[in-house]
Amino acid sequence: MSEKIRIAVLASGGGTNLQALIDAEHSGKIKNGEIVLVICNRKSAYAAERAKSAGIRAEIVTRKACGGQEGFEKRMIELLEEERADLIVLAGFLNILSNDFVRRYDHRIVNIHPSLIPAFCGEGFYGLVPHEAALERGVKVTGATVHFVNEVADGGEIIAQKAVEVLPGDTPEVLQRRVMEQAEWILLPAAVSQLCDEMSAER
Ligand code: GAR
Repeated sequence: MSEKIRIAVLASGGGTNLQALIDAEHSGKIKNGEIVLVICNRKSAYAAERAKSAGIRAEIVTRKACGGQEGFEKRMIELLEEERADLIVLAGFLNILSNDFVRRYDHRIVNIHPSLIPAFCGEGFYGLVPHEAALERGVKVTGATVHFVNEVADGGEIIAQKAVEVLPGDTPEVLQRRVMEQAEWILLPAAVSQLCDEMSAER
């Protein structure tokens, strides 16, 4: 059997999407991939704890410690090469990567975004913001999107989407939780699993 696709996950916060990936790997839903590295760009990121609990190498890399975006990306590339990462998953990673970085990993970086792209996306739309914007606009359906990352924020090729109902009385927090439960935590592992299957088949 050929070696599994080596996955690196980049996260900034709580890491519930990372957890969904870890759980999917453990339960065998992701058959052809293994998470080998988690990089967090915030010291407080709970995602790093989740990685360590699962026995996955976790590294904190901050822009500040690296003297800016260039040094930050250089260090990430070192780690990605050290771990021979094939696929990079942005799971709540709130840093905009440079064009050079994105081009280096063309069609090898995927992101999960908490809306149905092209709605409520682009620079500044992260965390609660897409949900606040969805409620403000009064849409009845929102959801999540997994897409390849290119030079345009949230502009890369769409891989998968899942719709979620907006209900009367929703707050941004309630809607965020529903989108995570009903879309993100299902969609991201499924898309990563499918990509790993495709990448393995191409080997
Ligand atoms: C998730 O809702 C993810 O879709 C979003 O941040 C949250 C991270 O949660 N990402 C973005 O908004 C990117 N533009 P998590 O740390 O618990 O996975």
